[in-house]
Amino acid sequence: MLKHLMITKPIEAQPHVDAGEPVEGSLGGEVGLRRTLTARHLVMLGLGAVIGAGIFVITGTAAANHAGPAIMLSFVIAGFACAMAGLCYAEFAAMIPASGSAYSYTYATLGEALAWFVGWSLVLEYLFAASTVAVGWSGYTTSFLETLGIHLPAALTQAPINFCTHEAAQAGSCEYNTFVLTGSLFNLPAVLIVAAVGWLCYRGIRQSATVNAIVVSIKVLVILLLIGFGSQYVDSANWAPFIPANEGADRFGWAGVLRGASIVFFAYIGFDAVSTAAQEVKNPQRNMPIGILGSLVLCTVLYIVVSAILTGMLPYTELGTAKPVATALAAYPSLGWLKTFVEIGAIAGLTTVILVMLMGQPRIFYSMANDGLLPKFFGAVHPKHQTPHKGTVLVAIVAATMAGLLPIQLLGDVVSMGTLVAFATVCLGVFVLRRTQPQLARPFRVPLVGIVAPLGVLTCLGLIAIMPLLNWMVLLVWTMIGAAIYLGFGYRNSKLRQGTTGA
Ligand code: ALA
Repeated sequence: MLKHLMITKPIEAQPHVDAGEPVEGSLGGEVGLRRTLTARHLVMLGLGAVIGAGIFVITGTAAANHAGPAIMLSFVIAGFACAMAGLCYAEFAAMIPASGSAYSYTYATLGEALAWFVGWSLVLEYLFAASTVAVGWSGYTTSFLETLGIHLPAALTQAPINFCTHEAAQAGSCEYNTFVLTGSLFNLPAVLIVAAVGWLCYRGIRQSATVNAIVVSIKVLVILLLIGFGSQYVDSANWAPFIPANEGADRFGWAGVLRGASIVFFAYIGFDAVSTAAQEVKNPQRNMPIGILGSLVLCTVLYIVVSAILTGMLPYTELGTAKPVATALAAYPSLGWLKTFVEIGAIAGLTTVILVMLMGQPRIFYSMANDGLLPKFFGAVHPKHQTPHKGTVLVAIVAATMAGLLPIQLLGDVVSMGTLVAFATVCLGVFVLRRTQPQLARPFRVPLVGIVAPLGVLTCLGLIAIMPLLNWMVLLVWTMIGAAIYLGFGYRNSKLRQGTTGA
């Protein structure tokens, strides 16, 4: 049985593929998606997926409750883990341009069972992140509409169930760690944005990428404005003490900086989503590394600068709000105009995160279905739009339902854990494949792989290790559900083990 579980999918030599060629995937049998995207599209997709709730929502509470001004260091640490993983993704994505991303890479290196486990963990990343960010989008949009005098009924802007967080309990509105009924019906804006973005993903990757590029330009412009104007109001006294003294557990001190890193890791999630478009990219051997690493470098620089400016504009203790960027700007009346722009930028930013996540998830399912590990339904490609349309519709329905009804924003850390599992496995996979198949053509090679890959594994596992126990339990339950589905369906229907794949 162990031998069956560890069966690996052979990697075929990659032909050079270019404009518009519907070339076969490298893992045998993955056909049907259209190659239309360029390196510029990929960098934009990366920025679209990455810059969102992490910087516009989460940074403030991470600074206020865990790291203080040293949130900048937290961004450096999380960015380091992502850089290691990004290099490994780039090597794989250029060598195996398949839409299954980390799932496909693991199938080719570490075996079917682990590939399933990674694919299943990626659902946490893509599907759950889309829902989580849709809830953040709803919050920003509702309050922006209010500034315009448009008030949506409370019953339509919140999930009917909420979870009592530490902050809410401290405010005396509920009992910590319990579920509470909010009296609302459902979160209508969150459902609408998922539906709209899902429709776009259904229509075509080229359309999705074009809309993404426009919206990304808006959010990057807003961030540059924030940096340009906000930097004039930075008071370096706010950066002292840089690492506030530890107040117990992971509140401040070095423990807080590390916990901060595990929280703001969420902000980096998404650069890997670029790899799910690999089957729709012209010349993926050249363009995938540019897309993955280019977007990662740009985001890292922006994040460190923005966190420096936020903590410089306002004492970190005052940044623990749901809209920390707006909070920092509100302290300076002369920057009132910028606050409105930032809100528009945040709404734009969150929209593209949802877009790229909703694009990525059906493509991973598509690869898994092509391998027989998921039902054929997910492998269907629309004859005209050439998108995995059935999977896209189902993913959008599930994401909209979760965003509309559940206190999904709780799952931010779990989303990060699922992603870290995939990152660690990809780093391990690159290392293993260099040893088991050194002869394979590698259009992009990780430099110093003997150091970079193990460091990637260790830093990702380290960030998982410092996650709270509750998140571990959610991950465990999720993994057990996944194992049951694999044994009940995937294991029996695997094309590779039945010898019906091209491999
Ligand atoms: N990195 C994405 C965000 O921050 C998931 O919203």
